Amino acid sequence: MADKDAKTAKPWGGRFREATHRSVERFTQSVHYDRRLARHDIAGSRAHARMLARVGVISEAEAAAIVRGLDEILAEIEAETFQWRPDLEDVHMNIERALAERIGEPGKKLHTGRSRNDQVATDVRLFLREEIDRLDGLLHDLQSALVAQAEAHPGLVLPGYTHLQRAQPVLWAHHMLAYFEMFKRDRGRLADCRRRVNLCPLGSAALAGTGFPLDRESVARELGFDGITANSLDAVGDRDFVVEFEAAAALVMAHLSRLSEELVLWASAEFGFVELPDGFCTGSSIMPQKKNPDVPELVRGKTGRVIGHLAGTLAVLKGLPLAYNRDLQEDKEALFDVVDTVADSVEVMAGLVARLAPREDRMRAALRGGFLTATDLADYLVGKGLPFREAHEVVGRAVAACLDQGRELADLSLEELRGLSPAVDEDVFEVLTPEGSVAARRTPGGTAPDRVAEALAEARAWLGRRG
Ligand code: ARG
Repeated sequence: MADKDAKTAKPWGGRFREATHRSVERFTQSVHYDRRLARHDIAGSRAHARMLARVGVISEAEAAAIVRGLDEILAEIEAETFQWRPDLEDVHMNIERALAERIGEPGKKLHTGRSRNDQVATDVRLFLREEIDRLDGLLHDLQSALVAQAEAHPGLVLPGYTHLQRAQPVLWAHHMLAYFEMFKRDRGRLADCRRRVNLCPLGSAALAGTGFPLDRESVARELGFDGITANSLDAVGDRDFVVEFEAAAALVMAHLSRLSEELVLWASAEFGFVELPDGFCTGSSIMPQKKNPDVPELVRGKTGRVIGHLAGTLAVLKGLPLAYNRDLQEDKEALFDVVDTVADSVEVMAGLVARLAPREDRMRAALRGGFLTATDLADYLVGKGLPFREAHEVVGRAVAACLDQGRELADLSLEELRGLSPAVDEDVFEVLTPEGSVAARRTPGGTAPDRVAEALAEARAWLGRRG
């Protein structure tokens, strides 16, 4: 028989003749995680109640009682004294029931012209807007750390790689600024996503809108939204904004993961390009000598989680008929985990980057023996009139000869170099140094020191403008 005890009855229990099965109760409830939305749920309810009074659906006194009651409930939630009830399914019904128990009749009017469907869509948007802003701030800190690293070592040169084979010398600052650019685009993507997140679904009700004369615009304004959603079915039925955020977050993680991979390589004895700060490394329980780069390794690993959540949310959405379906409840655990994982990863990497100590001696050593200035020699010969393809061939042969003799291009005598082309002069030796090589790469966006100085100034200015 129906359990009609007011204390235990579901808010939707009227048409039911049998109590919810225990397994179903456990299976459907989401309050153990969606209570994270409580602050936003209450903000939405306050705005909705005030508007209901403005348009005359409830009285001003009723709205005031609702707002006061909600404020008390929020205080209890924040003090962790609030009694969450799994039998009330989710954060929305928990708060609504607590309100009715606390203030009586007016509390039962709060849900007028509203559904949990537009309510939860609103809550998630409010939550995500705040998290986007927090993540944006953390990315700013990470970018600042990259810029500081670039500024701290203006002339430092290391091998640049393609195929993880030594390719051409590049400035450390140029390398740091490459990541700056990636995170700049990431912040652009988040800002773009935020514009679509920041629209208010309230007033869409269950799926079709409502007959009450709601003032949707004023609710949206009060909640800091840029406007209202245009179609009620779409507003309660889609979570594309969650997917967009998760995609932007997955790219942040992919960028962090590439940086992590480089740091893991660079911290190895084989590269030795950086010393990682002790405070950001861990040891081995068996090998006393070990100092392991667990932080970048974990960031690299957690990237997989975020990519998985993105794929998971897309899979939840793909087969859903309009409008709301309970499947959509599955968006939240993924979203919460993405938000936490990305924020933690960005924060810890900003701290790590700020404390990186590049090792000039090891970079110097790695600049030898790999013929990193072979392109410079070919370019030099082009300057003396050789067609590039010919110059490439000639220098290739010189490299092969050096390899046989265990020498470097810079070890060749002027006579030997003149064997490549009679046009070779004394000035060739400057071209063959790492410094000469980077200085030559003056195209905009290249690694020449004055270009990198310009890029650094631009990066600083951008950070100042963007905050
Ligand atoms: N907990 C639900 C969710 O997260 C709230 C909306 C439920 N609506 C419904 N009609 N069952 O999606």
